[in-house]
Amino acid sequence: MQKFETVASLKEAVAAAKAAGKSVGLVPTMGALHDGHLSLIRKAKEDNDVVVVSVFVNPIQFNNKEDLAKYPRTVEADCEKLMSVGTDMVFLPTVEEMYPEPVTETYHFGPLEEVMEGPQRPGHFSGVAVVVRRLFDIVEPRRAYFGEKDYQQLAIIRNLVEQIHYNIEIVPCPIVRADDGLALSSRNMRLSPAARAVAPAIYDTLQQAAEMAEYEDVDEVKEWVMSTLASFHEVNPDQCPDGLKFEPEYFEIVNAVTLQPIENWEDAGDDGAVGCIAVWLDGVRLIDVVKF
Ligand code: PAJ
Repeated sequence: MQKFETVASLKEAVAAAKAAGKSVGLVPTMGALHDGHLSLIRKAKEDNDVVVVSVFVNPIQFNNKEDLAKYPRTVEADCEKLMSVGTDMVFLPTVEEMYPEPVTETYHFGPLEEVMEGPQRPGHFSGVAVVVRRLFDIVEPRRAYFGEKDYQQLAIIRNLVEQIHYNIEIVPCPIVRADDGLALSSRNMRLSPAARAVAPAIYDTLQQAAEMAEYEDVDEVKEWVMSTLASFHEVNPDQCPDGLKFEPEYFEIVNAVTLQPIENWEDAGDDGAVGCIAVWLDGVRLIDVVKF
């Protein structure tokens, strides 16, 4: 596995690979790698001759300074994992290397960013788009891989590629979960043991919501999910010591393509519907998605 810290050195190596007729796949990450990230890399290995993984905690996509400061940084362990799945090139730039000048560009995504994460995290998706576009410009990959766990981010990236007319195939990858159902996330390592033990209730609740969708209206399913999690500590006090509780921020049921909220199940048409949730637990913000 080759490691690169500068844009120029990575570009040179990628250019050499392309000159040798090799296809290049890109997997952007912020490190603190787990099996969710590795599943993207494995898929990229299947589809491409050379896989480039970027590990960069992108400051401009954090609208919360504390979240940025607390974001786990585990570069050595990351490199071992990257090697174990056959990563060809890893890009580990500094902030100065990625952003030698102050960032002035912003991206807009219209209705796609007016829902869910958009209003909760102002500037977040523009910050994601800036870094992903730079990575696209540096690597010019044939394909790039993104997880369905960050469902709205995936839709935003597809929209970005349309806006800038790049010929890059965006490959969506399914959510990887722990055995107990919790969606893998770099943030999970910040949960206390008690919080980690109750966290699978998020997935359980979403699974039950998917069953309820067979016979209940959209509004009822939405309300049930929010109230089930918000009252979890009252119903299960023994599992929630020291004031531990779920604080759901939003649960939206939306068209799976346009991400616009639906009022009736039929409104999603052939696109289908998904439910996206953000929940605070133990000072950590967790997100998850269910397909209806
Ligand atoms: P990060 O949170 O590190 O995630 C990198 C990629 O891994 C994203 O595409 C994300 O959706 C995917 N991923 C994370 N957890 C997953 C899981 N449990 N199952 C499947 N895929 C999972 O998302 C980002 O970084 C950043 O916003 C980035 C795109 C790198 C731009 O900075």
